[in-house]
Amino acid sequence: MKLIAKTMAGLEGVLAEELRQLGALQIEPLIRAVAFEGDKRLLYRANLELRTALRVLLPIRSFRVRNEAGLYNMIREVDWPKYMGVDDTLAVDAATHSPYFKHSKYVALKTKDAIVDRFRQEYGRRPNVDIDRPKLRVNVHIYNDECTVALDSSGMSLHKRGYRMETLEAPINEVLAAGLVLLTGWLRDCAFVDPMCGSGTILIEAATYAFNLAPQLNRSFFGFKYWRNYDAGLWEEVLAEAREQALPFAYGLYGYDKDFRAMKIARQNALAAHLEGKVSIDRKAFEKLEPPAENGLIVMNPPYDERIGNDDIGTFYKMIGDRLKQAFSGYEAWVISSNMGALKNVGLRPSQKATLFNGALECKYLKYELYEGSKKEKK
Ligand SMILES: C[S@@+](CC[C@H](N)C(=O)[O-])C[C@H]1O[C@@H](n2cnc3c(N)ncnc32)[C@H](O)[C@@H]1O
Repeated sequence: MKLIAKTMAGLEGVLAEELRQLGALQIEPLIRAVAFEGDKRLLYRANLELRTALRVLLPIRSFRVRNEAGLYNMIREVDWPKYMGVDDTLAVDAATHSPYFKHSKYVALKTKDAIVDRFRQEYGRRPNVDIDRPKLRVNVHIYNDECTVALDSSGMSLHKRGYRMETLEAPINEVLAAGLVLLTGWLRDCAFVDPMCGSGTILIEAATYAFNLAPQLNRSFFGFKYWRNYDAGLWEEVLAEAREQALPFAYGLYGYDKDFRAMKIARQNALAAHLEGKVSIDRKAFEKLEPPAENGLIVMNPPYDERIGNDDIGTFYKMIGDRLKQAFSGYEAWVISSNMGALKNVGLRPSQKATLFNGALECKYLKYELYEGSKKEKK
């Protein structure tokens, strides 16, 4: 069957590679999504094991449509009782990039109306809506006049891994954090350091990857579990296989933050992710951080704002560059920030660049290779 994994802008390539490793066929990167072919086992594995997917969709109907009445009629024609019971709950998500449908919320509402009217016609009753954890989540995507109706097998965004107990300001989305780790091309052959780890998201995603732990091992809610064709035995098999895939990791995983509260929250989250004893999280300002290993990979998500305490942001980013040059030769460092002006103050020439979005903020993700000569080169 044809499936679509949704992701964030800039992560299509790493998601396609993840799918290739899962054994998916006919992999085709799209915009913020990757289409692929797979069976039910692959659908379950995709939900459990993909680090950079937000949802996995099963398209059930495609048609051309240019107005609301047409949309309503086409949706109502679908045999919805085949997919859910009248007593099950329902939610509809919609995304539109179309001159014919400007408001995605309205498309979602029309779709929901058409589905419940179909039930009313057959049963004299209608299913209720549950926007958080419905039994069936329907996804409608309209591009120009092409509409695709899909069932959302994840049911709830896959960034909800189940470990984030608490956050601080500006936590990064788990899927983006995993994407940052995978985009580095890390071969899990050196230490990993997040020197400004906040609530620990990037470190936790790096750690589950380092130990080859499926990112959703701690999550129990998936939309497909409420589908009529749910195969509980197959799901148990897929889960057991994923647990067996865990690998040892011989290098350290280190998180630091100058903020005491961040350190506490990151430790709590790591505990909730069952990474006790596998990661080390300490309070330390980057200005004073000494490398915890001879070499390694640094991924850093510093603050983007205009003012950092008493320093301005330019001085703060200059400090980041200076510290990287002075103390971390032998390391490879990746920094994500939406503050392009401040990034220039890092004062190192990036050897690779990617454009990503942290929420609505367009960001650059820059790679710096730190070797002995990098200090001199800048001078
Ligand atoms: C954008 S947040 C990181 C969010 C994190 N990626 C997460 O998912 O929660 C930036 C973090 O940098 C920390 N920070 C700011 N200045 C620092 C410094 N000089 N040394 C270490 N950490 C610092 C802040 O306390 C904050 O937690």
